[in-house]
Amino acid sequence: MTQALNYNMIEEAAAYIRAKTPLKPEVGLILGSGLGVLADLIEQGVTISYDEIPHFPQSTVEGHAGELLIGQIQGRAVVMMKGRFHMYEGYGPEVTAFPVRVMKALGISSLLVTNAAGGVNTDYRAGDLMLIADHLNMTGRNPLIGPNDNALGVRFSDMSEAYSRRLRELAKRIAQEQGIPLQEGVYAGMLGPSYETPAEIRMLRVLGGDAVGMSTVSEVIVARHAGIEVLGISCISNMAAGILDQPLSHEEVMETTELVKEKFLNLVLAVIPHM
Ligand code: HPA
Repeated sequence: MTQALNYNMIEEAAAYIRAKTPLKPEVGLILGSGLGVLADLIEQGVTISYDEIPHFPQSTVEGHAGELLIGQIQGRAVVMMKGRFHMYEGYGPEVTAFPVRVMKALGISSLLVTNAAGGVNTDYRAGDLMLIADHLNMTGRNPLIGPNDNALGVRFSDMSEAYSRRLRELAKRIAQEQGIPLQEGVYAGMLGPSYETPAEIRMLRVLGGDAVGMSTVSEVIVARHAGIEVLGISCISNMAAGILDQPLSHEEVMETTELVKEKFLNLVLAVIPHM
């Protein structure tokens, strides 16, 4: 049985976290590169380092802290991952999504996933926010491979509404009310860690991708398997390879996310009470 499908491991991690706080989180938050600012707004929270939690993997990427925070935001009890796991770190997809299983065991019913992504759609600009309408799993991997534990979800998980229509409509309405421009498009999840070639970006565009990144898809597949409602927001941190005549860098990604963090925070803070 694959690691993430082991019910005991999920329960041991959840039990460790439950012993740290009486709060029962309802909403899960996974914050992408440079988007961890939300963590500063958490009230009456506890912070648990990933390395303390039984069976939790460890973050290895600059710009990705390794902490789980549990507390209140806008009156909602939340559990927040500050820093996530990627397949390019060498983890299997079921390991990158293990924390989603643990958040489900803690009681969440909805999940906000955020990430930094390259803009594939040439109408986009660095600094845009994109509501994730759907995704393309381009990793060639799936976190649900292996024996299925029926206690966790069904064998053949429905992905026809991976990103909740209700939550997308909500996010669009709130963005409009707040005057925050919001693109809506398809996120293509790649393995990384190298950025894409210009030819790969042209391919993704033909396939219907609007943004490209190296995270999120495994987490969302596991969340849907677990019956969790998902909202996804990408920060377009750069235009994807070959669109502008300039190289891509992690520094650019971090700089852009720093610039949009206020807009991002305003949107997310307004959405969380309704999730
Ligand atoms: N490609 C893949 N992942 C990314 C990018 C990109 O251009 N920008 C931020 N994450």
